[in-house]
Amino acid sequence: MTAEPFLDLHPATETMLDDVLNGFATTPRALPSKYFYDAAGSLLFDQICELNEYYPTKTERWILETYVDEISAALGDNIVLIEYGSGSSIKTRLLLEHLNGLAAYVPIDISKKHLMMAARNLEGEFPTLPIFPVCADYLQDIDLNLTGVLSKGDGHGASSVPTDDGAKRSKEPSHLIFFPGSTIGNFNPEQARDFLKRVHHLAGNNGHLLIGVDLVKDPKVLHDAYNDTQGVTAEFNRNILHHVNHQLGADINVDLFEHRAFWDESAERIEMQLVATDHQKVDINGSVFAFNAGDVIQTEYSHKYRIEGFRALAEDAGFTVDRVWTDPQNLFSVQLLSTI
Ligand SMILES: C[S@@+](CC[C@H](N)C(=O)[O-])C[C@H]1O[C@@H](n2cnc3c(N)ncnc32)[C@H](O)[C@@H]1O
Repeated sequence: MTAEPFLDLHPATETMLDDVLNGFATTPRALPSKYFYDAAGSLLFDQICELNEYYPTKTERWILETYVDEISAALGDNIVLIEYGSGSSIKTRLLLEHLNGLAAYVPIDISKKHLMMAARNLEGEFPTLPIFPVCADYLQDIDLNLTGVLSKGDGHGASSVPTDDGAKRSKEPSHLIFFPGSTIGNFNPEQARDFLKRVHHLAGNNGHLLIGVDLVKDPKVLHDAYNDTQGVTAEFNRNILHHVNHQLGADINVDLFEHRAFWDESAERIEMQLVATDHQKVDINGSVFAFNAGDVIQTEYSHKYRIEGFRALAEDAGFTVDRVWTDPQNLFSVQLLSTI
């Protein structure tokens, strides 16, 4: 594998500049959560996954480990696995080990260096599996066009299946989209529906979506998960401003912002913000913005779902919910959706 992705659609710096300027023009100011993730942000997220308080990763991993054989049986074989927001692809390893007749793995992530590091590690562990890393914002349309690169009839890619007349016809692999981590929660319900419709299109006929969906629960458990005692989540939150400084040559004094995360009961979501602790003026490519103590930058929503609420959303987007797996405490769910 080269150091470059199979497809490099990383958003241009101008796109980030537009997003930041637009986000700073609203009240309250806001930044898209995808900008947490440069190389440093991806490493910080990996540290969050190891925290005692951060139940989503451990619980989702437990569900996948416990039910991976059922998941595999429900999917059949000859599958191209496409993962949105793959990060370090830690949970994916379970699928790579257990799915039948895996034709290829396509990890998609906006954080290029981290994506390539994860893909190289996987290549060492699964040397015969074709891996096609794609660096992209998954909110954009991505034309994967894998037809030309999947080899035929060798156990990978479109396999040849015997027909009644003895001839061999190519059986196209079906698509399994994997979207773990409850990253779907970063969208508001309307954006989530639009996103799921696009995923439905990419999954195609006979396609599936295996998705991690975090559930509404005791607010204390939620609060602690986003306010860890070691301050890793706070560093992760502030990293969005470091990223803006590095990428856009801005001069934000990041030390003058503190982390805030709280449960919004009526919207059933965790809201993450950065709150200015003092006055400062910041220059972003020639545009100057003043902050006073108490001013807020909205950085992330993390919507939590109820099983029936997510079912309605998925059905609105054209999916059928085939299976829902949860943990004994009903903290988290892994759901298998199909396009037919
Ligand atoms: C919450 S982490 C989940 C990582 C991993 N899938 C897991 O479950 O542990 C979100 C991942 O999605 C990626 N990501 C976030 N927004 C993205 C976007 N708009 N396009 C592509 N990747 C994105 C981040 O770089 C990060 O790796």
